[in-house]
Amino acid sequence: MMALTDTRAGYGWISIALHWLVAVLVIALFLIGEQFEDLGREAGASLRALHVSIGMIAVVTVLARIAWRFTQGNPKKAEDPRLILLLSILVQWGLILATLALVITGPLSIWTTGQPIDVFGMVQLASPLERNRELHEAMEEIHEVASSVLLPLVALHVLGALKHAVLDRDGIFMRMLRPAREG
Ligand code: HEM
Repeated sequence: MMALTDTRAGYGWISIALHWLVAVLVIALFLIGEQFEDLGREAGASLRALHVSIGMIAVVTVLARIAWRFTQGNPKKAEDPRLILLLSILVQWGLILATLALVITGPLSIWTTGQPIDVFGMVQLASPLERNRELHEAMEEIHEVASSVLLPLVALHVLGALKHAVLDRDGIFMRMLRPAREG
């Protein structure tokens, strides 16, 4: 039997797949975003288009992951000191909120210009909104802030994971690689 859903002991394949898919997409989008930021309008145009297209894949994946995360049984927490546990929960919530903010403000920052969203030159998603300069600026602003909190949050998250993998060796790291046996 493939363990698709989460149990008290750990994550199922769907949670594991969504976690790593979102990780790869968010890191790629971050790197591409930083890149075209430095290039200016003309030179950055094709990277920006790539960012938007991959971004739309991330919209679907991130929303699916968050929905799945909140409908699944919450696997039991690691046996960490309370302060570390609190920090890990804050970091995980921070990551969820930051990625949610990014996938909401990304599309809205385009649609508030009245422009359609072009996905790999294959699909054009027409703007459901009127052009709105103030909302556009606000969306860009939040997108930038959310993307800049991402790096420290990811760093803390990875440090925590490595602590479990290298120091604690308590199975917490392995839980995100393969489903844990019930017990
Ligand atoms: C979920 C992960 C995402 C990450 C980590 C990310 C990261 C970034 C970064 C680092 C920048 C450059 C800094 C700035 O905001 O000025 C940027 C800009 C931008 N992103 Fe994203 N982004 C994500 C999702 C999206 C999505 C889903 C869309 C839309 C489909 C999108 C559309 C844009 C646009 C249009 C800009 C340029 C804003 C401007 O011209 O100033 N992003 N993003």
